[in-house]
Amino acid sequence: MRADVQKILSRVGSLPPLPDIVLKLQERLRDPEVSLSELSTLVMKDPAFTADILRIANSPFYGLSRPTSSLTQCFLILGLRNIQTLALAFGIKRAFPSRSFKERLMWRHSVSTALFTHLLTREIKGGPREELFIYGLLHDIGKTVLLQSLPELYEPLLDESYSTGKEICPLEKELLEFTHTEIGYFLAQEWNLDEGAQTAIFFHHNPELSPKFSEESALVRLGDLLSHHYALGFPQENPFPEAEPSLGILNVTRERVLSLGDRIVESVRQELEVF
Ligand SMILES: [Fe+2]
Ligand SMILES: [Fe+2]
Repeated sequence: MRADVQKILSRVGSLPPLPDIVLKLQERLRDPEVSLSELSTLVMKDPAFTADILRIANSPFYGLSRPTSSLTQCFLILGLRNIQTLALAFGIKRAFPSRSFKERLMWRHSVSTALFTHLLTREIKGGPREELFIYGLLHDIGKTVLLQSLPELYEPLLDESYSTGKEICPLEKELLEFTHTEIGYFLAQEWNLDEGAQTAIFFHHNPELSPKFSEESALVRLGDLLSHHYALGFPQENPFPEAEPSLGILNVTRERVLSLGDRIVESVRQELEVF
């Protein structure tokens, strides 16, 4: 991996920190003795985050028979690992607020990729893994940074990739000399995300080159391709490629992935509205 961080950072400016509430929650959730009431008190200090948690726990995804407004109840419904995942998701949304239409599309793409990645992991690997949601959510964080810090350069580049279907990384290399995967990797290091997250972000366009975490990178790749396929966050659909190395890494067929996609796309659309 290239290490010319300085050169890249001098072009994009400084990277934003994660909000306070996320850092505090991450720290407290590491303590096995932490109590639900302590977590509630901590979360309640942040009304916006409290509202986010209540909205998610009451979403159709969890199918509650009666809506709840108790944070402790929400923690029980969602599970503590999910709280950590959600804190990071909303922390990122706050660190990079979507102001323009393109930024909102990008958020939609990130959330739909996260949901597809998460659901595919459950179907293909036989169990949910919350961290895969985060990997999916963050896979294109480098694009978000570029869109916000160099919009006059990056917007036309995104448009070209969307309208021609050309791969974005070669276009970025040509124009900027670095790619969104490199920016994302540096941000993941900056935020002390786990090695799986750093690797999946760096290799989500070519998981076959990943020296480790290749399955994780491949799952994110498939989630990403499904988000393109169903145009969730894009002006038009981008058909799933005929040949895709991720399929071999995960030992799954293109047909199976597409039929899973058809089965879960409606719940992804519904969940998207909650984020
Ligand atoms: Fe990407
Ligand atoms: Fe993507």
